[in-house]
Amino acid sequence: MDIDHILEILTLEEKAALCSGADFWHTKAIERLDIPRIMVSDGPHGLRKMQEDAKDPNDAIKAVCFPTASALACSFDRSLIGEMGKALGEQCQAEGVSVILGPGCNIKRSPLCGRNFEYFSEDPYLASQIAEAHIKGVQSKGVGTSLKHFAANNQENRRMSVSAEIDERTLREIYLAAFEPVIKEAKPWTVMCSYNKINGEYSSQNKWLLTDILRDEWGFEGLVMSDWGAVDDRPKGVAAGLDLEMPSSMGKNDKYIVKAVEDGRLTMEQLDTCVRRVLELVKKSTESRTETVWDKERHHKLARKLAANSAVLLRNEDGMLPLDKSQKIAFIGEFAEKPRYQGGGSSHINSYKTTSALEAVKGIADVTYAQGFVTDRDEIVPELEQAAIEAAMAADAVVVFAGLPESFESEGYDRRHMQLPDCQLDLISKLTAVNENVAVVLHNGSPVELPFVDESEGMKPVKALLEMYLGGQAVGEATVDLLFGDTNPSGKLAETFPLRLEDNPSYLNFPGEGDRVKYAEGIFVGYRYYDKKAMPVRYPFGYGLSYTKFEYSDISVSAYELSDKKPFTVECTVTNVGDRDGAEIVQLYVEPLTPTVIRPVKELKGFEKVFLKAGESKRVKFRLNRAAFAYWSEQLHKWHSESGAYNILIGESSASICLEEEVHFNSSESVPIKLTLDNPGGDIRTFPEGEKLYKEMLASVDPTMNGGGSDQLGEASALMALAMANDLPIHAMVSFTDNPDITRERLQMMIDKLNELLARS
Ligand code: BGC
Repeated sequence: MDIDHILEILTLEEKAALCSGADFWHTKAIERLDIPRIMVSDGPHGLRKMQEDAKDPNDAIKAVCFPTASALACSFDRSLIGEMGKALGEQCQAEGVSVILGPGCNIKRSPLCGRNFEYFSEDPYLASQIAEAHIKGVQSKGVGTSLKHFAANNQENRRMSVSAEIDERTLREIYLAAFEPVIKEAKPWTVMCSYNKINGEYSSQNKWLLTDILRDEWGFEGLVMSDWGAVDDRPKGVAAGLDLEMPSSMGKNDKYIVKAVEDGRLTMEQLDTCVRRVLELVKKSTESRTETVWDKERHHKLARKLAANSAVLLRNEDGMLPLDKSQKIAFIGEFAEKPRYQGGGSSHINSYKTTSALEAVKGIADVTYAQGFVTDRDEIVPELEQAAIEAAMAADAVVVFAGLPESFESEGYDRRHMQLPDCQLDLISKLTAVNENVAVVLHNGSPVELPFVDESEGMKPVKALLEMYLGGQAVGEATVDLLFGDTNPSGKLAETFPLRLEDNPSYLNFPGEGDRVKYAEGIFVGYRYYDKKAMPVRYPFGYGLSYTKFEYSDISVSAYELSDKKPFTVECTVTNVGDRDGAEIVQLYVEPLTPTVIRPVKELKGFEKVFLKAGESKRVKFRLNRAAFAYWSEQLHKWHSESGAYNILIGESSASICLEEEVHFNSSESVPIKLTLDNPGGDIRTFPEGEKLYKEMLASVDPTMNGGGSDQLGEASALMALAMANDLPIHAMVSFTDNPDITRERLQMMIDKLNELLARS
């Protein structure tokens, strides 16, 4: 396909037509020029390819449903996620799908976002790492991905029009930071813009977002498509860098493009830029087509492995888990029989099979089952409860399969609270009253409040808690693998579980007011907030237990004086001191000790998942560079790693740091200082040259600002005088002196001189 030639011979109408879909899932073909159409399909954790002539949006072909993003991220396992990506790529190749829509790497700002199950984390570094692995896996099979939803799509309420009001630093450090490394490292074939506005401008026509940042700054060379129906002003979108409108607008928006070119509001070059990208995608996809057969059973096994490696063991008192296969065990709760393993909406997969824990446990242990509660309504059914209590009384150990019913969370709407259904809580409290060995297995896409792990709320706590999230079609087998210890739990939370919803930093501003939502908590999202406020949480970011124990020792850094020129390494030893094989997720955080701007206490900058046989030790190595110390400087409009002291922290979770080492970072750049008459004395005095000058100025100014002679001052007044002198803007000095030489002009000259000195130093 000779794209330059095609661009010369396409008519204006044909060019405009290529910039929108032919239907829900295809680009347009232009037969006279042999330009084929290509197919895109959802994603992200399975293939949702619609049947030919499907009437129902859920009428997709049979496929394998892997765990959803909120589970996958807890695996912290780049290589396993890469395997899943490859499997998805194989399915797409076999089914003739050119681009699988996803992954979504929006940040979990609030636990209430209905679509959190499709997103990875509250932490941009973790989200970006998992997205990268996913994309590299898929694309290694010659199939494209669509990294979505770019950007700041963090709620479902009014998702198609709300304006996310976010300051620049927060956008860069949190919301865009989840995308930036993925674009640079994994090079997704396409990006899908979000529905919402950012600071008043729709993403689908936001030049700053789609061109200035995505392409000019980050070097993105692929295609940007709209989310389905996200287009507002199509010609403005073309000018902003939105190449492809999806799905079709039945030619309506194409006509606006034609008119805009004819009127001169859009240049032919601008339109050609978008058409070229569409053609490049078509070319790349057609050239990457290979004959592939996909092996459903192999992928199902992979789904099982992913679910087992993503699950997080949150509690295990008295080592209740793993269960002993010879015990009498009761499985209670509808999810044991019909697991909730995926979320509702565009990511819904038509699974070719599912296995429940009840099926999976057959032949492994003597298990009785009682339904206990219903999931189609939140209502206690006394007979079901009674049967469950009797089953619990007759058992040595009870496993309750609890979680959020489908209607509690989905694409399209947000949750209104963070609670499990009352009927489930009621049942759990009755079960812990009759059996002291109760474990809960959770099926949910996002955190829930967990009253049953507290001693203090009038009920006996459960002994064990296993978070499966929405674990995909093989969740039943994976749960059984974990409950009986055939797999050792190794996931850690990719998000904080707060004690209650009200503790979440977005609580006061979620989902916003009318058509706007202010991200007033700024960069303090997730653990960045709880850490800074030293707030207790139910389970911290990065937390998860194992059936074995790990010990950390011997941290070493390759250098103590670091520079922005040379990357450096950090190493430590991790030992499995228990008697079972297992994997540990070793986390590296960086804590700025001398910041000059407001910063989180610490931020995740590295992680490694290491498998260790019982008794085995391994050296774990991290490579870091200046990015590990950087914050977004609003003054410089770029990432800045400032000179100063930093702690390198290595821990088993964000709340449990095992090793630390202090290093000093020497930056070759600094934020330029330009003082004005508005700067108070305290600012001036931070520089040696300023201190001298300030003393000169102050010599003739009454430091008490009319507050009485200094010899009469008590300690408080002296402190006040000092504070006021430090806070007095230089221009105001003229008001507190009768020295005729202290004039505004003179003060300005002094400040100019100081600025000169600072510029030279
Ligand atoms: C969703 C996207 C999805 C698209 C196509 C939209 O409503 O936001 O994530 O890929 O539909 O189904």
